[in-house]
Amino acid sequence: MDDHHDKQIEILVRARYPILYIVSWEEPRVIDSLIDIGHRTSKSVFEWSCSSGIVPAGTPVDSKKNINAKTKDPLMALNEVVEQVEPAIYVFKDFHPFLAKNNFAIIRKLRDISQILKSSYKTLVLTSPFLDLPRELEKDITIIDYKLPTFDELGVLLDRIIDEVKDNPKITIDIDPGGREEILKAALGLTLSEAENVFARALISGGKLCNDDVAAIFVEKRQIIRKSGLLDYCEPDVAFAQVGGLDSLKDWLVKRKLAFTDKAKKFGLPPPSGVLMIGVQGCGKSMCAKAVSALWQVPLLRMDVGQIFSALVGSSEENIRRCISIAESIAPCVLWVDEIDKAFGAISGSSTDSGTSQRVLGTFLTWLAEKLSSVFVVATANNIHVLPPELLRKGRFDDIFFIDLPDQKERESIFGIHLRLRKRKKEKFDLEKLARAGKGFSGAEIEQAIVAALFDAFYQKRDLTDDDIIKAISETVPLSKTMEEEIRTLREWCSTRTRHASVTAEEIAAKPGRKLEFT
Ligand SMILES: Nc1ncnc2c1ncn2[C@@H]1O[C@H](COP(=O)(O)OP(=O)(O)OP(=O)(O)O)[C@@H](O)[C@H]1O
Ligand SMILES: [Mg+2]
Repeated sequence: MDDHHDKQIEILVRARYPILYIVSWEEPRVIDSLIDIGHRTSKSVFEWSCSSGIVPAGTPVDSKKNINAKTKDPLMALNEVVEQVEPAIYVFKDFHPFLAKNNFAIIRKLRDISQILKSSYKTLVLTSPFLDLPRELEKDITIIDYKLPTFDELGVLLDRIIDEVKDNPKITIDIDPGGREEILKAALGLTLSEAENVFARALISGGKLCNDDVAAIFVEKRQIIRKSGLLDYCEPDVAFAQVGGLDSLKDWLVKRKLAFTDKAKKFGLPPPSGVLMIGVQGCGKSMCAKAVSALWQVPLLRMDVGQIFSALVGSSEENIRRCISIAESIAPCVLWVDEIDKAFGAISGSSTDSGTSQRVLGTFLTWLAEKLSSVFVVATANNIHVLPPELLRKGRFDDIFFIDLPDQKERESIFGIHLRLRKRKKEKFDLEKLARAGKGFSGAEIEQAIVAALFDAFYQKRDLTDDDIIKAISETVPLSKTMEEEIRTLREWCSTRTRHASVTAEEIAAKPGRKLEFT
């Protein structure tokens, strides 16, 4: 059923990798696939847990007579693995608590075993929902991230459930092939057992499974993903047309939209991997992230970088892997890493945790550079001083954009957009004059000025005028004044390292004496 993992693990077993560590929430699915591999490689499969000791895999949990009491102790169990001679796969379930730091006896034992098993027909497999590996064992153990079920695997599950209930007169199944696809797509990102629950609930609540259940499945999925505490399933509530200026960036994104399709894949284009936006506060970085997902019509997952490092939800390395795994299973999607500088900034600082952040960043960047899935990463940052240089290296992000304060033309367009959003006709305003008055204002500040002006007009019981807005502008000290120095430094830094988001490539190319690198 689970081809990709089966093959990967089978190869490792055949190549006599001594110890594998499978990270998954889905123990039964992992064990099933190991039993299959056992059949194909003519090996017995045993499972171990601290409550049953070593027993043949698939032994029912409640069958007391099958308990192997003397191997309940993990060290004894590992000894048993060494002593038995038959070709076998040993699955140790939830072994992570025994790998805790300073559990020297177990750590040493595993290192010995990894040497011994290399010249045997035995493989030791540790399974756990978390990756928590002592540094000493990194070289002896091979880690496998068990991916969440694919579209096809969910399809098998759905068909099985439908098959089980189809003769029940109380239940109606009414889905066409299009509906089936939608339901399965909606369930991507769930584990097999979560999907099973969701399908079952949809069936029971309405007594039928129909195309309309997609919405309910989405709601459940959103909750489950939120429960992970690491990702948020956002509503893409910003239309692309609401972003003013930033033409070059928008151009770039519009072009990539096509590269994200199946057609482009068949054409041989790699899916775009991601974009980093560095820039002045309030100039539309977060907005662009949301707008991309609306433009491409794919889900938007916001990664909570703070949570990744919070000890409350598991180890940081495990967290980043889990984020990646959820995002990949939902692909095509946009993974939005807002304020990436805040998360990884600590690396260059004096944080005592810098080893961990370094490894988490490493995991993330390696994935970014090597990924083949259609997960488009949009990362944003303000503070260049703490940006780790690895992040900027070629091959990570497709491009790095600098989002500057809007120029005159861009301000005109932003004024127009926000007036329209507040149901005012932009023709009734002198956008050029407003934009001139708002020199040095960010998009956020322009929006604020309009809101303040609306308050004034409303208070005076009349409609909004140019003068209200100009008055509000004159009463605001923009960030570009208070942070003049910082913005200048940012601009200089970005001028040699990033692409400017505002002007189109054609415009720059048209300027004499300037060579552009088109990638
Ligand atoms: N280019 C723009 N076009 C239209 N509106 C804008 C633009 N830039 C900013 N705004 C307005 O300002 C608000 C704040 O912008 P946004 O959150 O995207 O800024 P940001 O660059 O992410 O800032 P920060 O660095 O503080 O996170 C937006 O919701 C939008 O209403
Ligand atoms: Mg932001």
